[in-house]
Amino acid sequence: MNNSDPTVAREPVVAQKRESQGPVLAASGLGKVFHQGERALEILQQLELQLAAGESVAIVGTSGVGKSTLLHLLGGLDQPSAGSIWLAGRRLNDCSERERGALRNRHLGFIYQFHHLLPEFTALENVSMPLLIRGLAPAEIIPLATELLQQVGLGERLSHKPAELSGGERQRAAVARAMVGQPDCIIADEPTGNLDEATAARVFEVLLQLRQRHNTALLFATHDRQLAARADRVLELTQKSLRQISL
Ligand SMILES: Nc1ncnc2c1ncn2[C@@H]1O[C@H](COP(=O)(O)OP(=O)(O)OP(=O)(O)O)[C@@H](O)[C@H]1O
Ligand SMILES: [Mg+2]
Repeated sequence: MNNSDPTVAREPVVAQKRESQGPVLAASGLGKVFHQGERALEILQQLELQLAAGESVAIVGTSGVGKSTLLHLLGGLDQPSAGSIWLAGRRLNDCSERERGALRNRHLGFIYQFHHLLPEFTALENVSMPLLIRGLAPAEIIPLATELLQQVGLGERLSHKPAELSGGERQRAAVARAMVGQPDCIIADEPTGNLDEATAARVFEVLLQLRQRHNTALLFATHDRQLAARADRVLELTQKSLRQISL
């Protein structure tokens, strides 16, 4: 897959050291306006954020306030209307689509509320995908993906397709997929929002353990104040911007 692309084919399996020791992810003056016919709907305005290496930050806020919008911008999945975003010291605004893709692949893992696993592929294949895109050979990938799946407790489910996994197992596979490329940073949009309380707690625990083991920064949106309280910092999205709160 994509072996002909020189920007991704030479990526090593272990993320290269970031060029600077600055934040792994940062935004400044960030704004987002959605246009709905004649109407302009401003969701984010002059938003500032810095996520340090290895740091965990929770984003809370009422439904519809713009948490997913913010995470999608930070993950390079959508374009801001104003401001800048830096990932691993590179300003995303200055990157071509291809460069953004390569940066995302090397430095970022994304976990969605609904797993977004590819239905026709097994758990092992799904978790292998980021490294296949990076251009690694299957012989190198399979042991890494297998190990990650073992770490999230799915060592006995490698050949199951998403429809053959429980909801919690699917989210754990999504956690493994986000982690397999050893990114500097994981962005998670309500990663356990679709699960019952006990399963949510278990999946979240797996995420925290892996993040600690790999020293990965974690930025996650949640409605669950108990989960938010586990983060190093809690930021509330309110009035189009972020402010630090204590829970
Ligand atoms: N593509 C779009 N076009 C127009 N409006 C949008 C679009 N995407 C989101 N919105 C609006 O932006 C606002 C913020 O949406 P967003 O999904 O970011 O909220 P959220 O904080 O993640 O909410 P929730 O907690 O329910 O997930 C909402 O009012 C939504 O209707
Ligand atoms: Mg949302």
